[in-house]
Amino acid sequence: MNGFRIDANKCQRDGICAVDCPAGVIKKQSADDYPEPTADFEKFCLACGHCVVICPHQALSLDWLSPETCPSIKTGFNLTTEHVEQFLRSRRSIRNFKKEVVGRDLLNKLIEIGTYAPSAKNEQPWHWLVIQNSTEVKRLAGLAVDWMRLVIKEKPEIARQKAYHRVVASWKKGKDAICREAPHLIVVHADKNWPFGAEDCASALTYIELFALVMGLGTCWAGYFYSAANSYAPLFEALGVPSGHRILGALMVGYPTFTYHRLPLRKPPRIMWK
Ligand SMILES: Cc1cc2nc3c(=O)[nH]c(=O)nc-3n(C[C@H](O)[C@H](O)[C@H](O)COP(=O)(O)O)c2cc1C
Repeated sequence: MNGFRIDANKCQRDGICAVDCPAGVIKKQSADDYPEPTADFEKFCLACGHCVVICPHQALSLDWLSPETCPSIKTGFNLTTEHVEQFLRSRRSIRNFKKEVVGRDLLNKLIEIGTYAPSAKNEQPWHWLVIQNSTEVKRLAGLAVDWMRLVIKEKPEIARQKAYHRVVASWKKGKDAICREAPHLIVVHADKNWPFGAEDCASALTYIELFALVMGLGTCWAGYFYSAANSYAPLFEALGVPSGHRILGALMVGYPTFTYHRLPLRKPPRIMWK
C-alpha cells in the first residue's frame, strides 16, 4: 500500500496536490471530492514528496512521509538578487588547499545538501565515497598518473591532445596536478545502467560546490581523476566501488589557501531566441 492519507478535517479540497503531482498519480474528480491516488499510484509515484510539502493545510501524508516530519521552509532572510548573483558568480575552482583537515561532520553536511539536487525521476542514484586521508588522496592521484603514463605509451595522440605528459612531468617534480594536494576527495558513483547518472550526479556536485563556498570551503572537480578511475582497473579497484557502478564525478575539498578579489569575465551567452 502507498499509505496515501487525507485528513478530511484539514483538507480544503483545493486540489493543489493533484495539480502539482509530477507523475499525475493524484486525482480529484470534482470540486467537492477529496484528492485520491490513481490506480497506478504505486507504479508511477516518484516518491518526490511534493504532494505532502505543497499542501498548505498539512492534510496529506504518505506511509513514508508526513507533514510533521518535513521541516517548514524558513523565510524572511532578506536575501537579495544581488546577494545571490554575487554568490553564484564568485564561486571559483580552488586548486590550492591548506593542510587543515575538514571535519567529517562538515563533509557529511556537504553531501546531505548535495542530495537536494534534482535527479531524473527523483531517482537520487548517487552513492558517495569520501577519501578523508590526504595521504590516500595522493596515493590514488598517483594511480591516475600511472594510467596517464599508460595512455601516453599506448595512445600517444590522445595523450598529447589531453596534455597528459604535462601532468606526468609535474608529478615527477613533486606537484600533484590530479588532486592538487587536496586533503579530501568526494567521489560520486551510480549504477551504470541508470541513463541520467551523469546529469544527476553533476547536479549534486554543483550543490556541494555552492554550499562549500558558504561553509568557507573550496572545491574543484577532479576530472582527470575520475576519467582515470573509470578507465584504469587498479584505480577503480582501489576505490572499492561496486563493479556495476560508474564513477560520475569527484571533487577535491579543503580550506582554500587564497582569496579571489575579482570576478573573471565569461564568454557571452550563445543564445538563440525563437
Ligand atoms: C567536469 C569538470 C571537470 C574538471 N576537471 C578539472 C580537473 O581535473 N582539474 C582542475 O584543476 N580543474 C578541473 N575542472 C575545473 C574547471 O577547470 C573550472 O571549472 C573552469 O576552469 C572554470 O573556472 P571556475 O570553476 O573557477 O569558474 C573541471 C570542471 C568540470 C566541470
